[in-house]
Amino acid sequence: MGEGFTMNHKFVSLNFNNATNGRNIKGALVAFFLHKRNSAKDFLFFRSKNLATPQAQVIDNWLQKLKQHSLETYDHSLRVAQLTVQLAQTFGVYSKTQLAHIKNGALLHDIGKIAIPQEILTKETTLTLDDRRMIECHPSTAYEWLSPIAFLQPALDIPHYHHERWNGGGYPLGLAGEAIPLTARICAITDYWDALSNTRSYRSAISKTDVLTLIQQQSGKLFDPNITNLFCHMMQKNLVNYNSSNMPVQARLA
Ligand SMILES: [Fe+2]
Repeated sequence: MGEGFTMNHKFVSLNFNNATNGRNIKGALVAFFLHKRNSAKDFLFFRSKNLATPQAQVIDNWLQKLKQHSLETYDHSLRVAQLTVQLAQTFGVYSKTQLAHIKNGALLHDIGKIAIPQEILTKETTLTLDDRRMIECHPSTAYEWLSPIAFLQPALDIPHYHHERWNGGGYPLGLAGEAIPLTARICAITDYWDALSNTRSYRSAISKTDVLTLIQQQSGKLFDPNITNLFCHMMQKNLVNYNSSNMPVQARLA
């Protein structure tokens, strides 16, 4: 991990502690919405601005490859990015630079799935051990593909570690607790939420209430308890801009 990478963590951790220890959840949410009122709404949406910058073009090229391979994963990635940025803002991450890194990381969190055959991604029967091994390679594949791209260095935590779990039972490294980068701990919950809230080729969508119950049950097991509390509060109070319908994000923004 490079120096800038570490500094980013300190920044996020400091703000997280301010938001959750110094005040209660309600206080953190009030601060979030006071800030959000002044922030550009279109910042949340990757495609609502032009793609003139070389960096935006690079990300769009990756996303178009993902879209060609798996429209389902592409739509999921856009929704997860939207939600992850909002959850990070709730934690007190207000810097546009920091939020841009989080957005980029979340947009590309499943980019490694391009290497997984479509028949495995959409398999309706039980996955074999080999299938699972292949799927569990996608965070490492993403890291391998994206790490040579300089401007994505501060965004790599999310693609690389979003399947790590609070209790150490995740992959690829089996990290536990706060050893898992904070941005990856945030995205672990938004990823799980979106995956279960939307229909997949191999199962139906689960209701919002049931998904929140499942997430709460996994607090301190799969997920960071503090992030779980804040996320569930946000979702229960409908404090986020998120549409769990299966309509692609781009169509909703049109
Ligand atoms: Fe993933």
